[in-house]
Amino acid sequence: MKVLIVGSGGREHALALEITKSPLCSELLCAPGNPGMEAIARCIAVGAENVPALVALAQSEKVDFVVVGPEVALVLGLVDELTKVGIKAFGPSAEAAQLEGSKAFSKNIMAKYRVPTAAYQNFTDLNSAQSYLRKKGAPIVIKASGLAAGKGAIVCPDMQTAEQALEDMLGEKAVFGDAGAEVVIEEFMIGEEASIFAICDGENYVLLSPAQDHKQVNDGDKGLNTGGMGAYAPAPVVTPEVLKEVETKIIKPTLDGMLQEKAPYKGVLYVGIMVTEQGAKVVEYNCRFGDPECQILLPLYSGDVLELLYQAATENLSELKVASNEGSAAIVVLASEGYPGSYPKGRIISGIDTKLDGVHIIHAGTKKEGSDIVTSGGRVLGVVGQGDSLQVALDKAYNVVDKVSFDGAHYRTDIGKKGLDKFLP
Ligand code: AMP
Ligand code: GLY
Repeated sequence: MKVLIVGSGGREHALALEITKSPLCSELLCAPGNPGMEAIARCIAVGAENVPALVALAQSEKVDFVVVGPEVALVLGLVDELTKVGIKAFGPSAEAAQLEGSKAFSKNIMAKYRVPTAAYQNFTDLNSAQSYLRKKGAPIVIKASGLAAGKGAIVCPDMQTAEQALEDMLGEKAVFGDAGAEVVIEEFMIGEEASIFAICDGENYVLLSPAQDHKQVNDGDKGLNTGGMGAYAPAPVVTPEVLKEVETKIIKPTLDGMLQEKAPYKGVLYVGIMVTEQGAKVVEYNCRFGDPECQILLPLYSGDVLELLYQAATENLSELKVASNEGSAAIVVLASEGYPGSYPKGRIISGIDTKLDGVHIIHAGTKKEGSDIVTSGGRVLGVVGQGDSLQVALDKAYNVVDKVSFDGAHYRTDIGKKGLDKFLP
């Protein structure tokens, strides 16, 4: 089949690497893609958020199957529009994508179907939000309900931060624009975070390996939040017992609930969880693969990734021969100087072709300039290591990290440490 991947980041490069391996793929197109994807697919300069242009492209190229990477196009209804013109696509409908697109919607679904999550209330009015906040006190978490590029959740250790966050979202300045017109105020949960990915066909699901992301920019989980500086899987904080609990108390009721709401969930359901003393609770749902988690989870899946995504999109997972997730993988992200703040672009990257058994390099924010590959984003590239154990995967990844460089590059040196510590006596 002729496949189109929508997106241009590390996540989409990882999808492209797996999809080109599949015997089911006759040709791969990417829109808009990146230099890493260009090496294995035909890239076409159509933006990942331009729904009409993407539909027109899929039609004119007679694409059989579209895999959508980023959330914006999903929330804007790309899958609905493709379905209308008879093109199959992997990803939820706009309605089902509200699980990520509206935190207020997702909290209401969790409450209705008794999915464990932080206690909360939704608000659109500043005065009522302020009185609720003053009743609850700090620490507390305040979230813009709409899509805010990962910046909409403010963990408030004190009342001053919380009052400011409410003022920013619901006050006259509306710092978060429409995304902050509704806010969720929720209980601060204590525990360790992990990410669970379920490939869903509306009714059935297949689990990928449980992963752990590293959101803060500096070692020891210090500094500003980023899109993710590295990840590893499987994450031992998700014990077999925790995973069972996540399936029965979170994934199944969520899928059943969405069916009852007449918005069956198809695509990847990414559940951010907090493993608390009272069990696993949902921090958030996302309607797409995590980035950089996707880059490590797909290589661990022993089956055919394209077949898995296609069977999910065509409501046929019950027919899929179940494959397992094998071994460990880790990714270390190299970021531009200044990221997650503003950063320069155009710095020449050296060592990007470094080869080592069990390691590959993923392009995220790169660009071709003449014969050079230069930086063009905050997260520039990711080095993925794979092995029988987490230690081996990490050693391999860091070995190559040392051989790739550009001016001002920075990365975390403690990816996977929380996982390794769990194996200590
Ligand atoms: P979100 O955008 O909802 O994923 O939130 C971003 C980050 O804020 C999460 O990865 C958590 O580290 C933190 N966070 C969000 N909600 C809570 C909560 N209720 N309690 C504690 N931390 C939270
Ligand atoms: N790595 C976090 C995310 O994709 O949202």
